Amino acid sequence: MVGDRALGEQKIAWVRDHMPVLRAVRERFERTRPFEGRTISAVLHVEAKTAALALTLQAGGARVHLAAGNPLSTDDDAVAALRAAGVDTLARKGESVEEYNEAIRAMLRADPELIIDDGADLVALAHTARPDRGRIIGSTEETTTGVVRLRALAASGKLRFPAIDVNDADMKHLFDNRYGTGQSVLDGIFSATNLLIAGRTAVVAGYGWCGKGVAGRLRGLGADVIVTEVDPVRAIEARLEGFRVRPMLEAAREADLIVTVTGNRDVVAEEHLKVLKDGCLLANAGHFDIEISRPALERLATGHREVRPRVEEYRFADGRVAYLLGDGRLINLATGQGHPAEIMDLSFTLQALSAEHLLLHGRELAPAVHPVPRSIDRQVALAALAPFEVGLDRLTEAQEKYLASWTEGT
Ligand code: ADE
Repeated sequence: MVGDRALGEQKIAWVRDHMPVLRAVRERFERTRPFEGRTISAVLHVEAKTAALALTLQAGGARVHLAAGNPLSTDDDAVAALRAAGVDTLARKGESVEEYNEAIRAMLRADPELIIDDGADLVALAHTARPDRGRIIGSTEETTTGVVRLRALAASGKLRFPAIDVNDADMKHLFDNRYGTGQSVLDGIFSATNLLIAGRTAVVAGYGWCGKGVAGRLRGLGADVIVTEVDPVRAIEARLEGFRVRPMLEAAREADLIVTVTGNRDVVAEEHLKVLKDGCLLANAGHFDIEISRPALERLATGHREVRPRVEEYRFADGRVAYLLGDGRLINLATGQGHPAEIMDLSFTLQALSAEHLLLHGRELAPAVHPVPRSIDRQVALAALAPFEVGLDRLTEAQEKYLASWTEGT
């Protein structure tokens, strides 16, 4: 679908008004132009908040190329507005996998100095499609799945340039993964189904930061939440938070809704589908569409039809049905509008400042996965306090001295 430029501009203006931390960075970038003449290729979920980031980098002097982080996560109106603003944007909601891959190849052909990635597809391509790192100074990574891939690349000794792990900054995962995913996954489920959460038994697979957010929000809406886990520490965390923790094979029998948030494959597989409660809604919130096995759904189903936009009914031989939401792609962007603006304000400010950091210091950094510098994380935390109307106490001189006396003694 061709997007509506004016609507896209309106959507971007709305989120910008709710992204004050990024706006302050943009104002500084307009004055200091840290990216003057530099080329940045980004593979991100192309929607209004992402547009605010792209335009911030552009305001800092960068030539920005942007492709989608997922074939279903694009807002075509934001694309139209971005193109009109001069950002080379190759994304279309519902694009084919081939179009998606070709757009990522185009991001590499743009010969970037900096890469901003969500899921590490562009970094992966930069390691397979070319014999060297080209002009790439470094990359930044937005999401848990991408960081797992980067760490594997680094462990094999193959990572060619420094990569900044934005995901694990405090101001990212504590807010984006937990509260952002918690809210936006529900937004996606609401939009797809228009059904009630209260009184339903909801199964959340995976109790990482994203799973914690989803489980907490579902409980807040009155669902009876069961968590599934493979990690004993997370399982105890979930139990002490008051959730039942059961194996998927057991949980699936009573699930009205299953949300997968694990980063792994076949979390809902054939054995689970065979015992799944009739009418169960299946939604994936992980980065890739492999958590709910569509091949297993197709193998078992005797009938298949779309009953609402992006709600597919699979009918099994015994008459039970299951509903797959959003093609099994990340539900918060496939049928929802992504994380709230105030959350992406924090994540994308970290991205903008990490990109600036790479430009200034990337040549000194080893080809490894690096944390966001503590000073940047703290700067974002302090700036974030203002709109949230949080007041901080300050240590007295005596308290500072008291703390220092402990460190002096060690
Ligand atoms: N909007 C832009 N990027 C996003 C992300 N990684 N998750 C959710 N919403 C987003």
